[in-house]
Amino acid sequence: MSARRAGATAAEQLALELPLELPAITLAPEWKDQQRLWGHPFHPMCSYLASFPAALTHAFIARYSRPGDVVLDPFSGRGTTPLQACAEGRIGVGNDLNPFAHLLTAAKVEPPTRAQAATRLAQLRLAWNAGSAGWLELGARVFAHPTAGDAVVPRAGSTASPADGIEAVPAEVALAFHPRTLGQLLFVRTTLRLDDRTDRFLAAALTGILHGKSASYLSELMPNTFSMAPRYVRNFAARTAFASPERDVFEGLSKKLDRLFRQPPPRTQGLALLGDARDVAGRARAALRASGRPDRARLVVTSPPYLRVVKYGYYNWLRTWFLGFDARAIDAALDDAHHRKPYLAFVREALAGLRPALTDDAVVVLVIGDVLTDRGRQIRGGVGLAERAWEMAAEPEGYRLAGVALDDVAAGRKMTKLWGDEAGRATKTDRILVLGATESGRRRALAGAGLDIDWSWPPRALRSL
Ligand SMILES: C[S@@+](CC[C@H](N)C(=O)[O-])C[C@H]1O[C@@H](n2cnc3c(N)ncnc32)[C@H](O)[C@@H]1O
Repeated sequence: MSARRAGATAAEQLALELPLELPAITLAPEWKDQQRLWGHPFHPMCSYLASFPAALTHAFIARYSRPGDVVLDPFSGRGTTPLQACAEGRIGVGNDLNPFAHLLTAAKVEPPTRAQAATRLAQLRLAWNAGSAGWLELGARVFAHPTAGDAVVPRAGSTASPADGIEAVPAEVALAFHPRTLGQLLFVRTTLRLDDRTDRFLAAALTGILHGKSASYLSELMPNTFSMAPRYVRNFAARTAFASPERDVFEGLSKKLDRLFRQPPPRTQGLALLGDARDVAGRARAALRASGRPDRARLVVTSPPYLRVVKYGYYNWLRTWFLGFDARAIDAALDDAHHRKPYLAFVREALAGLRPALTDDAVVVLVIGDVLTDRGRQIRGGVGLAERAWEMAAEPEGYRLAGVALDDVAAGRKMTKLWGDEAGRATKTDRILVLGATESGRRRALAGAGLDIDWSWPPRALRSL
């Protein structure tokens, strides 16, 4: 699809697509050599589209921040940057406009202790054992007639009282689970309070085991990476006479908690904010001050939404149903469907909004996808996006350029996994713009580029903290 906008002249369009050479920053991309699950076990809590490998964030956190510094990601997604920052003794702050991303980030940077999580799970089991009959009956009714009027269920996070609201269950949700598993999920979904730290952690952990192709998942209807289109799911289930095996929610969650707490939670607590990246500075600084911490970030590692690639609500509809979020409202709110010019204007606004939250010597690392095709369709505006982001978004806002680093291998792997071979070209290269908030930030970025990084996990320097 052409990125040409109504109103853009041919000359403007051409100017936007011409290559632009930028200086390279010599940063050995050692993050590509690390194991897929390198880093803290909270990182893979739940799959999230277009997320960073944790090792990539470590390459910058280790170089450009010290323990006690604030490290910010205004588009935090599953929370990779803030979690890795907390795990390295920094104050990790994540912000995202997607409530599902906010939930994952909050679960990771403000987690309960292992004992709190285990105690809450035990309470849930007891409450289930005491009142399972009604939920099992409801699960069976919904399974048989999901959209019928007599099969309505309490809303997520309600008291299970009709006064709190009831809703029908989408047919695709009902056919994804064994009726008994569905009864347990309806109980857990109604009971967990997402504004409680421990409940939120359990809910986030459950989203990570909701669907996937092995016995550790509650439904094998879909892969773990993302939810298949509802129509596809209905047809697939009918064609294959799909019947989900029975899976015990409490057992599955208990095993998931064991995996998550294989290492202790990060010692440093971070912050998770819900809102638009363009006004993150005021909210982040107020929240940091309120908790008695420094209120400016010394490092930002972030990746703004890519050009026309991901619908975070639609591709997570089963998870958003479980959490009680509206997938359509999420996609209507998020900035992920821009053509090139408005996209660059958006990145510029985000960088302008970010500046008051930065120290003068802050380093800002922007990972930008160079998009050639979106699920097989050509996108003309994708190539050279990082260069344009510098020219049209960062430079006009007063940032200083240290250079561009490349991450082609990781990007190819990531997108191929998502869309299959044909669409493996969706993101050709991740280009990483390394910026300074001022000249002193730029110098710091250049000086740190050649530093040797400890890739052992947990890093030796932290073991003694
Ligand atoms: C490429 S993803 C970031 C992934 C992240 N680096 C990770 O490791 O998970 C971009 C994120 O931007 C978020 N987003 C889109 N529009 C936004 C906006 N206006 N303000 C804040 N976040 C936004 C999306 O929800 C998505 O999580």
